Order: sequence, then structure tokens, then C-alpha cells
Amino acid sequence: MKRLFPLLLFAFIILACGGGEETASEAPAESPAVAAAPDIDTDRIWKVRCIACHGLNGDMGTNGAANLQVATSDLDYRINIITNGSENGVMTAFKDILTPEEIEAMARHTMQFNEDL
Ligand code: HEC
Repeated sequence: MKRLFPLLLFAFIILACGGGEETASEAPAESPAVAAAPDIDTDRIWKVRCIACHGLNGDMGTNGAANLQVATSDLDYRINIITNGSENGVMTAFKDILTPEEIEAMARHTMQFNEDL
């Protein structure tokens, strides 16, 4: 028994130190409402380009502008309508005003108005 003790101690130390590799916790799934490009000032663009029809909080509805607090359309739809304007021509096309990166950032920005998205 006396000779076994150091061996057991050794085994215990090995067990205590080994096998404890931390598995990195999974990154949270990307929400579409999170801006992909942090260098684009979406708040500023919103105030300069969009607020006149949609209002500060997206629900003003001037000229029949969609209420963005209840809109559930997906990212592609939003990128398209911001790029090309609305079919009835009321909403301006922004393809000559904003870059594609800015348009995508704004599309994501508009999703933040609806708390259910
Ligand atoms: C001249 C008024 C006007 C301006 C300025 C304007 N919009 Fe709109 N927007 C509208 C109207 C009107 C609609 C509804 C069009 C329709 O559904 O046919 C709309 C719809 C939308 C939609 C679709 C919502 C949905 O799911 O139905 C998004 C997204 C949107 N606008 C984003 C923006 C952004 C971002 C800007 C600024 C870069 C902007 N709009 C500027 C008038 C405007």
C-alpha cells in the first residue's frame, strides 16, 4: 500500500490537470437586426434620408410610408425597395445616393424598429 500511494497521487494530479480543455462557447446566432457594418452611421443616414417619410421611430407614415414597427418583410425585400424605390414610385430609389453597403446597413437598421423581428 505504501508503494501505491505515490502512484495514486500521480494519477490524481494527472486527472486534475488534464482533460479540462475549455470548449469555446458558441457565438450567438447573428440577428438580422444587428448592423453588419459598424463604420456606417445608420442613425445619421436615417435622419438625413428617411425620416421625412418614415419618422424618427419608423411609424410616421408620411406619403403612405410603410410603418416599420410592424413591417415583417425580410432583408432582401428591404434591400430591394431601398435600392430601387417602391413600385408606386413614392419611395425614392437610393441606388444612386447610397452605396450597396450603406443600403444593406439601412435595411438591417429598419428591422430594428420592429421589436418582434
Ligand atoms: C419619400 C418618402 C420616403 C422616403 C424618403 C423613404 N421611404 Fe421608405 N417607404 C416609403 C413608402 C411610401 C413605402 C411603402 C411602399 C410600398 O409598400 O409600396 C416605404 C417602404 C419602405 C420599406 C419597406 C417596408 C416593408 O416591409 O413594407 C423599407 C424597408 C423602407 N421604406 C426603408 C427606407 C429607408 C431605409 C429610407 C431611407 C434611406 C426610406 N425608406 C426613405 C416612403 C419613403
